[in-house]
Amino acid sequence: MKKSKLSSRSAEGRGSAGASTPRVAVAIMAAGKGTRLKSQLPKVLHEVGGKPLLEHVIRAAAQIVPAKDVYAIIGHEAERVRRAMAHTGVNFVLQAEQRGTGHALIVAGEALSGYDHVIVLSGDAPLITVETIRWLRDFHLQEQAAMTLLSAELENPTGYGRVLRRNPRSAEVQRIVEEKAATSSQKKIREINSGFYVFSAKDLYGNIGKLSTDNAHAEYYLTDMAEVLCKAHRRVVAWKTSNPSEVLGGNTRAELADIDEKMRLAKCRQLMADGVTVFYPTTCVIDADVEIAPDTVIEPYVQLLGNTKIGAECRVRSYCVIRDSEIGDGVMVRPGCVMEGAKIGTGAILGPYSHLRPGSEIGEGAHVGNFVETKKIKLGKGSKANHLSYLGDAEIGAGVNIGAGTITCNYDGVNKHTTVIEDGVFVGSDSTLVAPIRVGKGAYIAAASCITSDLPPDSLGLGRAQQVVKEGWAKRKRAEVSKR
Ligand code: UD1
Ligand code: CA
Repeated sequence: MKKSKLSSRSAEGRGSAGASTPRVAVAIMAAGKGTRLKSQLPKVLHEVGGKPLLEHVIRAAAQIVPAKDVYAIIGHEAERVRRAMAHTGVNFVLQAEQRGTGHALIVAGEALSGYDHVIVLSGDAPLITVETIRWLRDFHLQEQAAMTLLSAELENPTGYGRVLRRNPRSAEVQRIVEEKAATSSQKKIREINSGFYVFSAKDLYGNIGKLSTDNAHAEYYLTDMAEVLCKAHRRVVAWKTSNPSEVLGGNTRAELADIDEKMRLAKCRQLMADGVTVFYPTTCVIDADVEIAPDTVIEPYVQLLGNTKIGAECRVRSYCVIRDSEIGDGVMVRPGCVMEGAKIGTGAILGPYSHLRPGSEIGEGAHVGNFVETKKIKLGKGSKANHLSYLGDAEIGAGVNIGAGTITCNYDGVNKHTTVIEDGVFVGSDSTLVAPIRVGKGAYIAAASCITSDLPPDSLGLGRAQQVVKEGWAKRKRAEVSKR
């Protein structure tokens, strides 16, 4: 595409006060119910790649124009969709009654007719790339078209609208025929309408009143704008993408699974290209925003979710589920760990089967072992809690040894209280620490102690019943039982 042609085109300054660049809005159609999903959840909130369908599309749109020029057209469960997408900063237009894709644009007319061009995206087609939307926009501007549609050649075009070109070599389109209205010869056409368009706002809104509901669904079809504009002697063109999988829509659960798989594989490929080893990528579930530094190894059957960040030279072994956590360099995560909202220091060793709940901060080189649950704790540098413990609401210093079976009793039935364990403390196995409590630096807690009051530094805390020994007791007992 020649840049010069584009800039000379935009220099003509359509509409707005002689501005040199056209004013472009993006409209995202997201009001439909998604009947084919058989779900209480609105279609566009169904997730692929760890995010709602609509959020993927909004993200792409917001890279084309500022969020203030993006309009999500919502209708079915509108409040729920609005709440879920509020953080994106885009505008919402309410299509209270969903009377078709054409009707969606009619309803948005007030918001959109002040722009020069409107890019229309489908809220249920999240694989669309920013590059393709840019190409489509630029092609539209270059062709000086009233309507430009993105088409794709599909192996199996069933269910999609088909593109009827004036002649096979021309970019010009005569009309789009929906599957239900297509004749058997039209059904053989493999070039489909992707549901992505660019319109000149003046042509769209000057002619949208001509749409009718004379079709199988008794709806206003946006696709009919092709024929309407052709009849008005306006230019309608199609630009065919070379990557047809970009236009796939998630109309059914099976299609959602297909899109999800494509996204996750693409994510794994990107990570591998960036120097991360991913074994059996088809078994790993890695969300779009996850970041991993080079030379880290992800073993089979690992889930890395949300905003998880992993440093370099780590190893995440099989069956870990890690969400919204930050892992430093050189960390070993052994099999079966579950982590959420945790922060792990360089060189730490976790698992197998550790459960790190929100607010767990594990220090450099620290160890958290099997069947240890942590919540809202700081575990200092080089400290170890290797077996069978619950550590909650605790500040634990450096070089501390937490013996097997240690429990911080943080909850009194009403409130949560903090346990402070200073540097170098040794907590013997099977100890319970009843919070609020402070164990001073270098103190020593005897195994099986129940500690209920603070321990000064370097002291011994011993809180268990005195041992009693009764010589010969067991032998006498056995004899007595056998006589009965
Ligand atoms: C549409 C196209 C079809 C194209 C296909 C590509 C029409 C009539 N047909 O069919 O040519 O091949 O997309 O995927 O446009 N929506 C609203 N308001 C409504 C109705 C729908 O916002 O009143 C939204 C939906 O939420 C969805 C999008 O528009 O995100 C497309 O609607 P959908 O019903 O999925 O259209 P398709 O049957 O897929
Ligand atoms: Ca669709």
